[in-house]
Amino acid sequence: MKIGIIGCGNMASAIARGLSVADHSIEFYCYNRSPEKAQNLANDISGKFCQKLNELDGCDFLLLGVKPQNLNDVAIEINQAIKIKTHLVSMLAGKSLEVLAKTFPHLTVTRIMPNLPMLVGEGINLTIHHSQTSPTLSQKIEKMLSHISLVVPLTTEEQFDYAMMVTASGPAYLFEIARILETALEQKNIPNAHEIAAKLFVGSSQLMQEDFATLRNQITSKGGVTEKALAELAKNNLENNFKQALENGFNHAQALNKA
Ligand SMILES: NC(=O)c1ccc[n+]([C@@H]2O[C@H](COP(=O)([O-])OP(=O)(O)OC[C@H]3O[C@@H](n4cnc5c(N)ncnc54)[C@H](OP(=O)(O)O)[C@@H]3O)[C@@H](O)[C@H]2O)c1
Repeated sequence: MKIGIIGCGNMASAIARGLSVADHSIEFYCYNRSPEKAQNLANDISGKFCQKLNELDGCDFLLLGVKPQNLNDVAIEINQAIKIKTHLVSMLAGKSLEVLAKTFPHLTVTRIMPNLPMLVGEGINLTIHHSQTSPTLSQKIEKMLSHISLVVPLTTEEQFDYAMMVTASGPAYLFEIARILETALEQKNIPNAHEIAAKLFVGSSQLMQEDFATLRNQITSKGGVTEKALAELAKNNLENNFKQALENGFNHAQALNKA
């Protein structure tokens, strides 16, 4: 199988690196606006460095990893260079299947939404396919991604946009909580604040296969200090604040999809 990578940035490279380890039969064709990144990725995954986009013509899939604001520019190039009908897998936030199908009238399209932990092989990929994508092709993409991440196939873009507020934006919420805890320690002159906050997340994450409420209850004894702290968070409506935050992001994603 031949996969063309267009835009060899952080996310597309993480996916390509993972796939190159999981499936040695894939041939990668790497193309990027600034050629060094494509050259480096190609070296790392024993792929082909492509100086011109038309070298990706004939690939079974094109993985599009540019930023959303670069879509229009790259679309002109792709539509000129890619003559053989193929399938485009886009990871661009805020670019709906409808927009992609209109932008690439000669290609069939899928949206995926990776997240930052893809960089360490612990990622999640949401997927949604355009109605013109055959079930065989959809399953092929999902199977391929399942070797390098948790894959969550979705059937509506509403689900996709809501789920990505947890999966793709989620790491930012967790980093923000870590930052708040780190700052609180620093303000009390407690040493190693960063290491403490980081280890808290790394250690806790290893227990996360259990039910979350059970885990919480294990360290929340009646009348204890944790119960007191959690009560304060509940009083300030932590759960509702999170839900509202997800809704706000979701509404923005829906607006971007229509833009
Ligand atoms: N970061 C996340 O957590 C995350 C999560 C989910 C989805 N995404 C999506 O993933 C995509 C990539 O994000 P990223 O963080 O990986 O960005 P990134 O590291 O900046 O990668 C984007 C790459 O696209 C290249 N590029 C731009 N225009 C191009 C063109 N016309 N032709 C070829 N290559 C071009 C850039 O090349 P240069 O080196 O020349 O700039 C850069 O290497 C975005 O659409 C984003 O919405 C990101």
